[in-house]
Amino acid sequence: MVNRPASAVEWARSFVAPALKEGSVAVDATAGKGNDTLFLAESVGSTGKVFAFDIQEQALQKTREKLHLAGVADRVVLLMENHRQMKNFISLPLDAVMFNLGYLPGSDRSVVTEPANTVEAMVSALEMLSAGGRMSVVVYTGHPGAAAEARSVAVLAATLDSSFTVLKTTFWNGPLHSPKIYFFARAGEAFENLPAEKNS
Ligand SMILES: C[S@@+](CC[C@H](N)C(=O)[O-])C[C@H]1O[C@@H](n2cnc3c(N)ncnc32)[C@H](O)[C@@H]1O
Repeated sequence: MVNRPASAVEWARSFVAPALKEGSVAVDATAGKGNDTLFLAESVGSTGKVFAFDIQEQALQKTREKLHLAGVADRVVLLMENHRQMKNFISLPLDAVMFNLGYLPGSDRSVVTEPANTVEAMVSALEMLSAGGRMSVVVYTGHPGAAAEARSVAVLAATLDSSFTVLKTTFWNGPLHSPKIYFFARAGEAFENLPAEKNS
């Protein structure tokens, strides 16, 4: 039981969770300290696969350690690559994708996600998202360059066709630079099989 308000990444995880099952394929586009990678690895089960990207070796090393400790390293492919290259490494339909933008906490803040990379990676991920698949993007707004990245994400999100549902939220009563969270859901079985629709 978490005795505090859920954080942005926890809301993101709770959104993608229903799209994940044993055998699912998922992507962590920004591995960082590996928290989302671990969540995805535990959610896809022993027959699933997770691809995790980061451009910093220290991030991948932290992620690797976390996965080994949890005994789930064998279901994760760690890639020291720019996430804009995603399509060169993955061709499978994706059940869930997570982006947690910005910089690696406690490290060099000059290594940060950038709008052009982020948008190209998001487009690739959305194209590969399976029917009923879900994607979360946590956008931070306080660091240099953050505003431009937030605008790019907002423009992309607003221009997607109606095969996607896009929701955006923030901590309305939180500090000025609270993160924003985008939730993307691709229409598909997950919606068609809603109990209410079955019974109507
Ligand atoms: C906020 S951190 C991610 C935190 C992570 N989700 C976690 O659970 O700890 C953002 C990460 O994105 C990485 N990053 C920045 N640009 C990237 C890019 N073009 N491709 C892949 N990763 C990138 C950074 O190195 C950093 O580790």
